[in-house]
Amino acid sequence: MEKETLLYEGKAKKLYFTDDSNVLWVEYCDQATALNGARKEQITGKGALNNQITSLIFEKLNAEGLETHFIKKLSKTEQLNKKVSIIPLEVVLRNVVAGSFAKRFGLEEGIVLEEPIVEFYYKDDALDDPFINDEHVKFLNIASDSEIEFLKKETRKINKILKKIWTEIGLTLVDFKLEFGRLADGSIILADEISPDTSRLWDAKGQHMDKDVFRRNIGDLIETYTEVLNLLEKTK
Ligand code: C5P
Repeated sequence: MEKETLLYEGKAKKLYFTDDSNVLWVEYCDQATALNGARKEQITGKGALNNQITSLIFEKLNAEGLETHFIKKLSKTEQLNKKVSIIPLEVVLRNVVAGSFAKRFGLEEGIVLEEPIVEFYYKDDALDDPFINDEHVKFLNIASDSEIEFLKKETRKINKILKKIWTEIGLTLVDFKLEFGRLADGSIILADEISPDTSRLWDAKGQHMDKDVFRRNIGDLIETYTEVLNLLEKTK
């Protein structure tokens, strides 16, 4: 497989074409952002940690028979993905009250939700990724009724698998964000990444083992992500 020209540069990754029109070459970068990109920092080693963590998680999801974009890890910072057209939604699932959910409803962080809650945010940097509902998703022609139902059902299914993976290494999966994409035949599969950048993970002592250490300035991101990777590697 040959890496070809750059297709897209995001906040944390670069996507390149390959000599196979169905496959992208993805490079994870060292940039950390918060506040929708308003705060940016280069953190050496972050790209390698996220690529290795997300690769391990996607290998486990693929092994469970889930349809994902992940093909294989190429190096510490690179992986091959199936080429999809990304659906402009951030699909968030919450098991425990935290972050913007706590703020929006004036709740303490840490309350366990009886039923996980799925939320949609419209992926649009200029609009600051607004919180939207199913009817907005339809109005904006992002997805049909049946696709919306599929996204919610698939996210709840993925939550069950992810909870098992994180529980095995002593972490509580508080919440996470997923992105989905369409293959050329229109079918929807899981895409993007699953890492401490996109998930809240609390250890038994309530320590944050995720990007909140950067967002809230409460710890060292590299030390934290290295610990997560080391724990995950033991479960390979
Ligand atoms: O900030 P909020 O509480 O809405 O975040 C919910 C979850 O979605 C968190 O795990 C966070 O890391 C993730 N998220 C993300 N990318 C965003 C916004 C949130 O990965 N742009």
